[in-house]
Amino acid sequence: KSGAADLGGFPHFMLKEIFEQPQALRDTMRGRLVLDEGTVRFGGLKSFEERLRSLDAVTLVGMGTAGFTWLAGEYAIEELAGIPTKREVASEFAFRRSAQSKQGCLIAVSQSGETADTLNAIREAKRRGMLTLGIVNVTGSSIAREVDAGIYNHVGPETAVASTKASVSQVLLQMMFALYLARMRGLSKSEGQTLIKEMQKLPTYAEKILASAGDIKRLAKKYKKTENFFCLGRKYNVSSALEGALKLKECSYIHVEGGNIAELKHGPISLIDKNFPSIVIAPKDSMYEKNKSSIQEIKARKGLVIAITTEGNKELAKIADTVLYIPKTLEMLTPILAFIPMQLFAYYLAVERGNDVDKPRNLAKSVTVE
Ligand code: G6P
Repeated sequence: KSGAADLGGFPHFMLKEIFEQPQALRDTMRGRLVLDEGTVRFGGLKSFEERLRSLDAVTLVGMGTAGFTWLAGEYAIEELAGIPTKREVASEFAFRRSAQSKQGCLIAVSQSGETADTLNAIREAKRRGMLTLGIVNVTGSSIAREVDAGIYNHVGPETAVASTKASVSQVLLQMMFALYLARMRGLSKSEGQTLIKEMQKLPTYAEKILASAGDIKRLAKKYKKTENFFCLGRKYNVSSALEGALKLKECSYIHVEGGNIAELKHGPISLIDKNFPSIVIAPKDSMYEKNKSSIQEIKARKGLVIAITTEGNKELAKIADTVLYIPKTLEMLTPILAFIPMQLFAYYLAVERGNDVDKPRNLAKSVTVE
């Protein structure tokens, strides 16, 4: 059983694990990035390289946080490697007659490696003759043993029920996996090197975000009585929006709707008023102008906006009520950074509201029933 000694001076495991993320990102990359070649090496996949070279479809499955991280993976594998990719909630995979390719693979993402819904999807994929891969943190876990080959996160044990360091590692691994597949398919060495160089900066960027934890703590004090939030983004950051919403729900017990901000105007915007704030992930990327106009629509309806944008972008400070900054990186890597302020916000809100942060009510670290 874990005690105060394991907390290393932090009041909760969740905060400790949030602060371990720079190290978790380093550990995820260690020994795997090959800068000279502009590619990634995964020891566990070595004997499957031929099959991976002829892969023509990818299905990604997971539940909860693990499932939301794969929204970013879906975009990255298609963008970099050009392989048709879809994400499916693991629980549905076995019960749906989806069209599968025999040359396709299923990738299961799970921190604990024990999630029954995810395990069930793997068994079904095997029955259908698919190659099965896993992205798992716990070595020797059921999922790690069940898949044909796997990639471990290597981020050490995660004790708090709400996943933090494992989730940023999951997003990073899927970007690394996308690059690995892409380099087998014609992505140039120099494009690979550009991506690797940016990946290598992520731990320092994460440290920078963590240094602003005090600002987020103050923000949580301000919003502690709020009963509803939207958490919204686009493209890669739909993943961040859904994960941010889940983290807030899990820890603060506040009702949060997460999703694609483009959908707001097609219905949910009717909920906006001065008591229904929105968190909008709007980095300076290909979706920035569209995100900005959505923020303006929310403001026109008297909604409060907490925006997460790129350092140096002064424009949103004039439009949004609060702006949090993340360092500038490549568009596909932004979720890895955008997750962090939302984890901190969820954590501090939970503390402000007197919740059991590390063991939120009704939740378990691994759900071993379907
Ligand atoms: C539980 C936890 C979630 C977690 C999900 C998947 O429901 O409450 O926070 O994301 O399981 O867990 P896994 O271990 O498969 O990543």
